[in-house]
Amino acid sequence: MIVLGIESTCDETGAAIVKDGREILSNVIASSADIHEKYGGVFPELACRRHIDAIIPVIDEAIKKAGVTIDEIDAIAVAKGPGLVGALLIGMNAAKGLSIAWNKPLIGVNHIEAHLYASMMGLEEIPLPALGVVLSGGHTLLLKILDVGKYEPIATTVDDAIGEAFDKVASMLGLAYPGGPHVELLAKSGDPTRYPLTAGRVKRSPIDFSFSGLKTAVLYTLKGGAVEKSDLAASFQETALNDVVGKALLASQTFNCQAIFAGGGVCNNQRLRELFNEKFPNLPIHWPSANLSADNAAMIAGLGEKKFINGTDTLDLEVQTRIPIA
Ligand code: KG4
Ligand code: ZN
Repeated sequence: MIVLGIESTCDETGAAIVKDGREILSNVIASSADIHEKYGGVFPELACRRHIDAIIPVIDEAIKKAGVTIDEIDAIAVAKGPGLVGALLIGMNAAKGLSIAWNKPLIGVNHIEAHLYASMMGLEEIPLPALGVVLSGGHTLLLKILDVGKYEPIATTVDDAIGEAFDKVASMLGLAYPGGPHVELLAKSGDPTRYPLTAGRVKRSPIDFSFSGLKTAVLYTLKGGAVEKSDLAASFQETALNDVVGKALLASQTFNCQAIFAGGGVCNNQRLRELFNEKFPNLPIHWPSANLSADNAAMIAGLGEKKFINGTDTLDLEVQTRIPIA
């Protein structure tokens, strides 16, 4: 089966062709990160304009690169949310238009679930139950994976997502957007013990995340005077990542956890991977490959094929800016 995937939830316009749910024939991404740089975060209207310009050329390129004909495409999978409403609508309308024009079934896919699925895509067998860890610009989630499509929430963030915290701290440190990779790079030469920072504690639900206080602590440290930026970046990164890994450990102890599946752009962080390896020496940890960790359409197509088995969507399919994964 050959699936065309379409992704436009935030600032990346993506299209991909995936064969049999695992063989990525093409995975094309056009990012508008360059125009958001001066705002230190995504400017939704500008992202939408770029999506409009990019969507058809990106789909075209994905089909050409894959070397498939339109006849060979069996279905169109599209990210239905969560995300920015205007951005989502552009991918959704493209998917619906092509579904009508080419007479292909349409499959709406949850973007967060697709992030998680990215680290399962190549596997023959998925060890279950497993712990899901989604760390992106919009989400910080721990969940119990009972099966693909069957999840129980364990923890979420009550304010900023972890990637968002990286981006905001980067902006405070004068680093470019998206800030995560720049913070990681700067932190490499810094002393993580130099500034004592603590991650937020959520009283009514201690396993949940809160990063807004940590972000403010970074701001006050900066305002406090002469600061070694690399030490501050390292102190922030170490605090935020240890919080995630510590809570992931607690979450994994609440059930008979067989493996960890991680997803989302923050998974590119090598220090995060080191900390997970240290904390979970006996558990297989599955990371998305570099081309599947940040927003992309291959993960949408891959999960789309899985969903196809349970039925397709109609043209009434609507975008959803917020969708719970479980
Ligand atoms: O998954 P993604 O592309 O988009 C969302 O669905 O939100 O994740 C983007 C986020 C950004 O906040 C970016 O700064 C962060 O992932 N990120 C990183 C790293 N690479 C990307 N954060 C920390 N360290 C990294 N190396
Ligand atoms: Zn994403």
